[in-house]
Amino acid sequence: MLHRTPTPEEAMAQTTARDTEAGKAVPHDSALKHVTGRAPYTDDLPEPEGLLHLAPCWARDCAHGRILDVDTSAAQAMPGVITVLTAASIPGENDCAPAMGDDPILADGIIHFHGQVVAVVVAVSRDAARRAALQVSVEVEPLPAILTVDDALAADDTVLPDYAFQRGEPEAAVTEAPCQLSTRLHIGGQDHFYLEGQVAMAVPWEDGDLHVFSSTQHPSEVQHTVAKVLDRLEASVSVEVRRMGGAFGGKESQANQWAALAALAAHVTGRPCKMRLDRDDDMIMTGKRHDFRVDMRAGFDDTGRILATTMDFASRCGYSADLSLGINDRALFHADNAYYYPQALLRSRRMRTNTVSNTAFRGFGGPQGMLAAERLMDAIAITVGRDPLDVRLDNLYGPDRETTPYGMVVEEHAVLRDIMESLAQDCQYRTRRERIAAFNADNAFLKKGLALTPVKFGISFTLTHLNQAGALVHLYKDGSVHLNHGGTEMGQGLYQKIAQIAADEMGVSLASVHVTAARTDKVPNTSATAASSSTDLNGMAVVNACKEIRERLTAFAARQYDVAPAGVHMHADWVYVDGDKVMSVADLARAAYTARISLSAAGYYATPEINWDRETAQGRPFFYFAHGAACSEVTIDTLTGEHRVDQVDVLHDVGRSINPALDIGQIEGGFVQGMGWLTTEELCWDDRGRLRTHAPSTYKIPTASDVPKAFSVRLYASNGNPKPTVFRSKAVGEPPLMLPISVYCAINDAVSSLRPGLIPRLDAPATPEAVLIAVQEIRRGNGV
Ligand code: MTE
Ligand code: MOS
Repeated sequence: MLHRTPTPEEAMAQTTARDTEAGKAVPHDSALKHVTGRAPYTDDLPEPEGLLHLAPCWARDCAHGRILDVDTSAAQAMPGVITVLTAASIPGENDCAPAMGDDPILADGIIHFHGQVVAVVVAVSRDAARRAALQVSVEVEPLPAILTVDDALAADDTVLPDYAFQRGEPEAAVTEAPCQLSTRLHIGGQDHFYLEGQVAMAVPWEDGDLHVFSSTQHPSEVQHTVAKVLDRLEASVSVEVRRMGGAFGGKESQANQWAALAALAAHVTGRPCKMRLDRDDDMIMTGKRHDFRVDMRAGFDDTGRILATTMDFASRCGYSADLSLGINDRALFHADNAYYYPQALLRSRRMRTNTVSNTAFRGFGGPQGMLAAERLMDAIAITVGRDPLDVRLDNLYGPDRETTPYGMVVEEHAVLRDIMESLAQDCQYRTRRERIAAFNADNAFLKKGLALTPVKFGISFTLTHLNQAGALVHLYKDGSVHLNHGGTEMGQGLYQKIAQIAADEMGVSLASVHVTAARTDKVPNTSATAASSSTDLNGMAVVNACKEIRERLTAFAARQYDVAPAGVHMHADWVYVDGDKVMSVADLARAAYTARISLSAAGYYATPEINWDRETAQGRPFFYFAHGAACSEVTIDTLTGEHRVDQVDVLHDVGRSINPALDIGQIEGGFVQGMGWLTTEELCWDDRGRLRTHAPSTYKIPTASDVPKAFSVRLYASNGNPKPTVFRSKAVGEPPLMLPISVYCAINDAVSSLRPGLIPRLDAPATPEAVLIAVQEIRRGNGV
């Protein structure tokens, strides 16, 4: 196996060669513009004349309190200030929550967390607004604040009802099992650290209509929020986003507030208004990945095969519900990862805290559930004294062990086993295991660890109705195609993949397809670009739109040439009749236009087969699963707790790849981002509820130099998705984030080598501090 990622040409050779645009490893449509700084993001758009700027004001030392007074007079008097807006300025509803109505855009009466916005200054420049914002004084009467999961559990305070999946009577079964263990794991949160922060610009049009440019994964929700806040018709608000400079779930609901504030200011002043958050404010004021406390018990046989387990998940949701329902459900859906639990009780508590409301982050709770499953595998392997890979393989789903605790059948269990076994073989897991044991015997202070972990990630929104999408496709008379769909581009390459699909469906070349910004007035009522489903959903909607136009054209050409419609074929800008090239698509389009045939169509798609009954906790929430596995080797320094990732090998299943270059990019990026979550990124709040890690100086995301030196990412030689997805591809956006659980497990393995038989006390993230503590504990003979 190559210990580097294949070049796009090599990657392409991995997929079967075919004469279609889909399947080609073409670069991201904006790649050149990204690297030369010429891709306009929201803040780079030409600024309309008279543009005003907003800055947020907040109570600087309050995690929970009653607002007694907001004095804006000093700020009003500052140079360049036009107005200062508070909750009283809002004509409609003071809410930007995605569902539950519990997220005020400006605090009204109560401050729920440190960093909650109380007022916004509107001024002629961003600098003037920011200076004036410091002059707003907020008088508060402090209230007791609940800050941690432990505090919230003690107070029994939740944002949403508890939820659980149960099969059998696991509590009794664990007690009766020949071997048992119980362990607790704390899993840290994560800041999105998108390079482009939150930003929106609202431009008033005639009759009070508004056009909003927003860096959002969810233009429709921004539209609906703005209309609700301003008490206007949804039809009077349009939202546009060409691209985001990263989002990772952090702009799924979290973009609403800033767009609503910009729109409010535009509504009040009648002038265009922009709000762009400063990085520190962004980190303090926007939600993050949920941190969790997981308490697990397992009963297993002496080979480590699980008989029963109970897992209790308690997460820090923050002060409001936001997307916590779906996120915590997804943690439960992935608490099995790839393993069959004959009896299981998986419980979730959604704790309310006086901290920022936590939100979507790549994997949407799945990573936390999966990490618990992998932690359990390691703990069991250590207890029974077997290689963790063997325990993992023995616990996989398989024949007669194929139903999840929530009643969905795992149809492709053989694929996942094959991925793990092929990877183990290709990266020489067994021989390296021996080499590592020898290294560890020879070295007193440096210790190596190795782990190979699988990923099985459910694809579909678990809120079933969200699994729909629309598209609007126009063919012009010169044969060019204008493409719009409900998805947004955040760097993942969605637009390029969909352009490739559209080219094939329409029978034109990729160069003839023009990708344009997502707009709510072109494709309405869209779902967020999320759940990794955007190619699946929007790709199919585009296919349906293109098909309609193509069928009209081929029927027209068939009449002209007096052949059956099946005899007409369009491919790469040319029209073929009975195999003969007869004219260009442009000529056909012109002729069809003259014959008064519509060259435009709206497409629609809804995912088939899925049905999920949350009441009974049974059904098929996912259309299919995405699979992958990674093997990571690390070295830790037991004197400092530092680690180095020596080698990573990934084998990942993307079905039939629409674009291997983009898919490999997603896998590499997701891996490194997940590695950051599990090893270096640590969020710290102080005992007054203030986030102390709100800048890159204190919050350490991976950099280019943290990418493993030997890092090989390969696509699994798939026969294609067994489900009828577009091009038989599989979603790839989120699943790779969970591959670096292998890095965390390898670090655990290295610590464990100090005292075989003891389970290291290692929480996530495995920072040098955490590793050093685990090392010291295990040296003293203290395991879990
Ligand atoms: N890749 C880049 N470069 N930037 C991003 O913000 N977001 C991730 C993933 N990959 C993200 C990304 C998340 S959280 C999701 S859900 C998917 O992309 C969304 O896009 P998709 O549905 O097209 O995969
Ligand atoms: Mo991704 S967390 O579903 O935006």
